[in-house]
Amino acid sequence: PAKAEPKDFLHISDFDKATILKILDRAKEVKALIKSGERTYLPFKGKTMAMIFAKPSMRTRVSFETGFFLLGGHALYLGPNDIQMGKREETRDVARVLSRYNDVIMARLFAHQDILDLAKYSTIPVINGLTDYNHPCQIMADALTIIEHIGQLEGTKVVYVGDGNNIVHSWLLLASVIPFHFVCACPKGFEPDEKTVEKARQAGISKIEITDDPREAVKGADVVYSDVWASMGQKEEAAHRRQVFQGFQVDKALMEIAGPKAYFLHCLPAERGVEVTDEVIEAPNSIVFAQAENRMHAQNAVMLHVLGL
Ligand code: CP
Ligand code: NVA
Repeated sequence: PAKAEPKDFLHISDFDKATILKILDRAKEVKALIKSGERTYLPFKGKTMAMIFAKPSMRTRVSFETGFFLLGGHALYLGPNDIQMGKREETRDVARVLSRYNDVIMARLFAHQDILDLAKYSTIPVINGLTDYNHPCQIMADALTIIEHIGQLEGTKVVYVGDGNNIVHSWLLLASVIPFHFVCACPKGFEPDEKTVEKARQAGISKIEITDDPREAVKGADVVYSDVWASMGQKEEAAHRRQVFQGFQVDKALMEIAGPKAYFLHCLPAERGVEVTDEVIEAPNSIVFAQAENRMHAQNAVMLHVLGL
């Protein structure tokens, strides 16, 4: 029997391969419409979205708010001082109150358990805008960007260089549903969550490698991917991490080992001169701004899907 469609988008692997590819096709379609200047497609007309941010954001906030508006809806920004989930009010109460006003919730939180609780008690769809554990909207946008530039994600070699963080967990979960070659090159002690690596390996869909040798890892890469060494909530560790992560900077020499066909991706914000050099991020094969733009288009399609539109 077919699995019941989940109401929420909390992890990439909440959807099966066919659904992910369908959403990405829809993203391309609606992107073309928006870019053509067409402003009469308003599927979110009369709908509202509550956006809860416990952490800072540029892309996530602006892309969700703008995308929802362009398709006819109204999005509310609720910053770290507004809801204070778990402090001012219990998550289960926030979930049930917002469900009575809004059609969809998007949340960027610290603890992953908080978004699971939010989804559990909400009667409306909940979309994960990043937790300490994962960042599924980012990886949907990344997949869209790879499909646009390479033609397909299937069979490509994606090499992530840096901290085994929330971005890596979403890549691993994507690799558990769509076949490609995923390599994470990270310093010892900064590997991604073991259970998530195991889950991706057990799925038997993709080739998964975890290594501490970035130079070996990037050979033959279609995509080299970088992210900050200290994520939100870890900024006090930044100085220490800069020491430990020596050798994991994506620079020109590393991109040369990867080869001329390799694109550079970064979820942004980037710390130039730390995890990536200015030269690499400004190079012609760096597609980080196309990638950032696709946040909006990928998410529009995710929202259309969870709202059944
Ligand atoms: N990539 C990303 O999520 O960016 P923001 O933190 O600016 O939303
Ligand atoms: N790993 C980063 C991603 C930012 C979009 C963080 O969590 O801060």
